[in-house]
Amino acid sequence: MQKANIKFKIAVLPGDGTGPEAVKEGMKVLEAASEVHGFQYEVIEYDFGGDRYLRSKETLPDSALEEFRKMDAIFLGAIGHPDVAPGILERGILLRIRFALDQYVNLRPVKLHPGVRTPLRDKRPEDIDFVVVRENTEGLYCGVGGFFKKGTEDEVAVQEMISTRKGVERCIRYAYELTRRRKKNYHITLCDKANVLTYSHDLWRRTFAEVGKDYPDIKQEYAFVDAVCMWMVKNPEWFDTIVTCNMFGDIITDLGAVIQGGMGIAAGGNINPQGTSMFEPIGGSAPKYTGRNMINPLAAISACQMMLEHLGEEAAATSIEKGIVYACSRLKSLSAGEMGYTTSEVGDMVAAFVRKIKIKT
Ligand code: IPM
Ligand code: MN
Repeated sequence: MQKANIKFKIAVLPGDGTGPEAVKEGMKVLEAASEVHGFQYEVIEYDFGGDRYLRSKETLPDSALEEFRKMDAIFLGAIGHPDVAPGILERGILLRIRFALDQYVNLRPVKLHPGVRTPLRDKRPEDIDFVVVRENTEGLYCGVGGFFKKGTEDEVAVQEMISTRKGVERCIRYAYELTRRRKKNYHITLCDKANVLTYSHDLWRRTFAEVGKDYPDIKQEYAFVDAVCMWMVKNPEWFDTIVTCNMFGDIITDLGAVIQGGMGIAAGGNINPQGTSMFEPIGGSAPKYTGRNMINPLAAISACQMMLEHLGEEAAATSIEKGIVYACSRLKSLSAGEMGYTTSEVGDMVAAFVRKIKIKT
């Protein structure tokens, strides 16, 4: 099957550490899905990451950002290199892309697939199925601040938390729309700390309430971030959509990843609904496993699923998700080195599953 005139241009950044191994399996599954579901795509690969930085001191040239703007999506492996000081690659590549391409939502589903062990005793797949909408271009991530009297005993360090009405509103609106599309509980939770962050999160609360007037079908709830952490462990079934600021979203989605089975399965999308979005496994570059065919590629495969969903290839995305669920039922564990399969075998398993669906239908 071939669809006329549709050819997705996908920028692929394998990145550092285990990023390339994970990306390879994601690409394997993408290829299987394209054969079965008839979409065409073209991959443009970029070698940005630690090795290139160590060779050339270049993180990400402006020209690459211009090229990315013309792409349909970006697929990223992992960024982070043991020989590069923390922050350089993260800020120079990952955060730079998020900010420059105005990917204002970081979408992180937290879903426990059947057969996956969660550290939460007594919780089942139907209890752990929510999505975190993390604001992705503001907050404490703007890098606004400075030092005063640095290095002296009177040193002052300031790090500003930036919230703009526009930035907060577009993120919140996206979250409400998503809550409708999910058709789950029609329930949205604003995760904030309005009792302490009396300016920034006052703006978030007012905006949440105002935008919410356009969504009378959706039940609104407010929860402080510390309480959200507690409930994610005690009662994750209470959540449907959680919307939150950049820093809180970063923190609670690591907790989310753990309750859905770990970094081996957690993926996210950096979304600009009007521009180019980027999809990534959220686990990092895991240097100690590099090149050992041991890491779990399901997170990267799941990022590929999210990318196809975003590109409107819903049937392909659904078949990949079923392949992931199948793989979860076969793997002994989702942790690196404990799967009972190698990285490439897990990729083969999902790709084969995606191809088999074609034969059945
Ligand atoms: C993430 C990561 C990044 C973040 C780091 C690598 C800058 O932790 O995607 O969650 O803080 O956003
Ligand atoms: Mn993080």
